[in-house]
Amino acid sequence: MSKKEQILVTSALPYANGPLHIGHLAGAYLPADIFTRYHRLKGSDIVFICGSDEHGVAITIRAEQDGVRPQEIIDRYHELNKGSFERFGMSFDNYSRTSLPIHHETGRDFFLDIYNKGILKKKQEKQFYDEQAGMFLPDRYVEGTCPKCNEEGARGDQCEKCGSDLNQTDLINPISKVSGKRPVLRETSHWYFPLGDFQDKLKNYLDQRPWWKENVRNYCYGWIKQGLQDRAVTRDLNWGIKVPVDGADGKVIYVWFEAVLGYISSTREWAQKIGQPQRWKDYWQNENCKLIHFIGKDNIVFHAVMFPIFLMAKAGYTLPQDVPANEFLNLEGRKISTSRNYAIWLEDYLAHFPPDPLRYCLAAIAPETKDADFSWKDFQTRNNSELVGILGNFVNRSLTFAHKYFDGQVPAQGRLDGLDKKMLQLLAKAPERIGACIEKYTVRQALREVMDVAREANKYFNDKEPWRSVKNNKQECGTTINICVQVSRALAIFMAPFLPHSAVKLWHLLNQDGDIHKQQWASAGTVFVADGHPLNPPEILFSKIEDDVITAEIDKLKSNSSSESETKKTIAVPAATDKISFADFQKVDLRVATILQAEKVAKTDKLLQLQVQIGDEKRQIIAGMAEHTAPEDLPGKTVVVVANLKPAKIRGLESQGMLLAAESEDGKLSLLTVEKEIESGAKIR
Ligand code: MF3
Ligand code: ZN
Repeated sequence: MSKKEQILVTSALPYANGPLHIGHLAGAYLPADIFTRYHRLKGSDIVFICGSDEHGVAITIRAEQDGVRPQEIIDRYHELNKGSFERFGMSFDNYSRTSLPIHHETGRDFFLDIYNKGILKKKQEKQFYDEQAGMFLPDRYVEGTCPKCNEEGARGDQCEKCGSDLNQTDLINPISKVSGKRPVLRETSHWYFPLGDFQDKLKNYLDQRPWWKENVRNYCYGWIKQGLQDRAVTRDLNWGIKVPVDGADGKVIYVWFEAVLGYISSTREWAQKIGQPQRWKDYWQNENCKLIHFIGKDNIVFHAVMFPIFLMAKAGYTLPQDVPANEFLNLEGRKISTSRNYAIWLEDYLAHFPPDPLRYCLAAIAPETKDADFSWKDFQTRNNSELVGILGNFVNRSLTFAHKYFDGQVPAQGRLDGLDKKMLQLLAKAPERIGACIEKYTVRQALREVMDVAREANKYFNDKEPWRSVKNNKQECGTTINICVQVSRALAIFMAPFLPHSAVKLWHLLNQDGDIHKQQWASAGTVFVADGHPLNPPEILFSKIEDDVITAEIDKLKSNSSSESETKKTIAVPAATDKISFADFQKVDLRVATILQAEKVAKTDKLLQLQVQIGDEKRQIIAGMAEHTAPEDLPGKTVVVVANLKPAKIRGLESQGMLLAAESEDGKLSLLTVEKEIESGAKIR
């Protein structure tokens, strides 16, 4: 008996330190979702895993920038990103978080196992240290000029410009991100993983996977050729998984060592949630399971070199079967930049458009073999002339015809002529053709094949001229419309991986039973809908996008990216997803307060220590405002505070509330105040 194909698909765990943009979607998520949805229809035993990457310097730097605790950052962006993914139809079986106990446990176990095997080497060494902030400066805490390409502002772990992996100490003119000063070198110790000891094994492993994408293979062999070096797997940081051995106070496991293990812990969490806590082993401890990592090209070394080696060291684990890494997505001919707000944020997009047209466009231009470019004009053209003009048009004209001339019922198939047979033959071959492309990760070609079916179907409709036959040969007309309905059903299934929301809609128009996403892929090639089957009234599947809407989006991008623009900027408000009740709102106790004293917190750039008067109470509040106002301007100001926030320790100082401020898109803060003079402690409602 042939067992079902077992597949575990993962998408890179995005850092929960900011919102997601279209570049994320195009690289690691949409292609994986298409692949997974297709395999589910094909009947494979497939699980799709993702989650938030919540440790490391990416998170702590963001927290410091905002003057809040890392926990606040990850809570905020985990929820936001999880929601964006859901709204775009990313069909993860589990979306976990690396801050969960199950992940900490997994990370500790792996580290300890490798440590106990005597694989790790402890080394005494000098690391960058910020004397003013009193802390070590791992990874991105140091920036400087890239020694390879001379770009300024290269991060201590990697140069974004040329893609080189860097050692902090190679940077020219290193600068601390915390104090802006030049760091000093200070003695510390770290545990290193000797990647070189596994070099032959890795080469062997790669040799056995000749089907990997050319760029990924070349990249890995390049690393091997240079000779794999020892790599530190611990950091001096207080955010992350504590190093579980003696003498490691103040050290955490290196984020990349444990983040990739997030795939395992997320699968474990999934298994627990479905009530089969051992099920994760079917995928992770099973050499027949195909483990596939969808990532962007900047993550190749971690997934295709280090992770396989970590798994070899641990032993008994499934090794990646494939790592289909995608290239980058540019935007209107320029690199997407999060820091300069040059991006299309997923929530902004969703405030104006439905998800499927973006999925369509990103699949059509997927950066599979080289960097791709997204432009709003191209998006509009693809929506209007392909989705509306070809796919939507075919379905709409077919179903409208059935309603107008056949009472909304599928006419009898009757006798087939040459054109009819040709159309059905084309349909019979399509599932295999499209499927083969998806299995090779070429979603662009797969989508082209789907659209070719729709194109051929339109041609069939034109050639058969049902508007003529309806007058002189109603039976032949019935045959034509019957076949058009069969094709529409097939198209619904073909659309399902790419356009999951529209596929559901079409399934409903066709009045088909069950969930479209639980159908059988192969059934799309067959005649399925019975003569006489009643259809639901036709509705438009896709809507045209007008020029002014697109122009507005282009203008928005221009004004975001040009810093000297004088026009008043606005910030798009994302669609409210979870509305709160008035009672929820009332839980927040907002009060008017007066600032009594303000001074900078020593050794920080951002933090102010404030003493405020709220009614008859004096409170201390630590606020991330130092870069926005001079402390001497604050005493006497009337402000708005959250008065019932649980107290928190920030840099060792107790903060007993929170100041409210408005944040501009470039991060400038402006304090909230009240219009008229009013007594301190007044309630805001
Ligand atoms: N958070 C990383 C990034 O955004 C990706 C981590 S993938 C993982 O680049 F597997 F390590 F989690
Ligand atoms: Zn560089």
